[in-house]
Amino acid sequence: MTQIRDDFRSDTVTRPSRGMREAMAKAEVGDDVFGDDPTVNRLEAVLAERLGKPAGVFMASGTQSNLAALLSHCGRGDEYIAGMDAHCYAHEQGGAAWLGSIQPQPLPHQPDGTLSLDAIAAAIKPDDMHYARTRLLALENTLGGRVIPLTYLNEATALAKSRGLATHLDGARVFNAVVASNTDVAEMARPFDTISVCLSKGLGAPVGTVLVGEKDLIAKARRHRKALGGAMRQVGILAAAGLYALEHNVERLREDHGNARRLADGFAKVPALRVTMPDTNIVWVKVAPEHSEAFSAFVAAEGFGITGGYGGESQRWVTHMDVDAAAVDRAIGAAERFFAKTRY
Ligand SMILES: Cc1ncc(COP(=O)(O)O)c(C=O)c1O
Repeated sequence: MTQIRDDFRSDTVTRPSRGMREAMAKAEVGDDVFGDDPTVNRLEAVLAERLGKPAGVFMASGTQSNLAALLSHCGRGDEYIAGMDAHCYAHEQGGAAWLGSIQPQPLPHQPDGTLSLDAIAAAIKPDDMHYARTRLLALENTLGGRVIPLTYLNEATALAKSRGLATHLDGARVFNAVVASNTDVAEMARPFDTISVCLSKGLGAPVGTVLVGEKDLIAKARRHRKALGGAMRQVGILAAAGLYALEHNVERLREDHGNARRLADGFAKVPALRVTMPDTNIVWVKVAPEHSEAFSAFVAAEGFGITGGYGGESQRWVTHMDVDAAAVDRAIGAAERFFAKTRY
């Protein structure tokens, strides 16, 4: 197998920079299960404040954070509404169902990634012993790299609240969403009771997610985190990376978005490729079916890492701090070379 030189598989493949490693090495630490780690405490406070919420809790991963949030909002036999492509429903093993006895009510996405308000309203069950109790609306931003607009988030959460539901945002890439839409992150967080923010995606930290929200919910999530095996000890070493990421790597997400756009523009000129123009750092590319397998094999042999597409029609190319404009140009050049030799 050819080694990956330009790794477009995910924004999770980044390695901590020298500055980040120095911050980690210097971190003051303590036993976080006793609440003694000053760096973790600072990270939780900084993110909570930035998102305009009273409390935060450091989690090992986005999956753990979403699950702890769902467990905090819903009990056994309750139900949450989410999109069919939502990470917490589709890509986390259905953990809320098998670990929490929480039933998902998935809804199809509209072409822009939103869930129709009518569909949400219709999915909320009446207070009747035949039905699960619908407790929560869980949304995601960005969703597959698309920015879900603030106006929609406000409308959907207002509907949920008017029917007595709580609201959760999987904001694994919420900073991509706010940077791309020039929105204040606290504005985007405002209508949600809990928001999960990953530090180990575009922000470049090696580990970590922070769940922020109302005090009582975060206290519950902290309890659930313990049961989920996520209460860690001298974890300030990791929290220091998160603090560094928040200080240095938020505005630079614009570079990733620019590189994604450059990649999409270049691929769009190749007639066999159908490109979805990205809002942020994820480019979806449909390859003409007769070329998809050969093109995917070529891309891999040329040293590019991608996902979603080997042997398939649809490829996912993700930009991040460890792929630069030169890597993007190499990818465009490779596609041009491959298809120059191919008759359409
Ligand atoms: C939108 C979204 N939410 C949650 C997660 C889960 O994060 P983790 O891989 O840290 O568990 C991911 C992972 O890629 C994600 O893309």
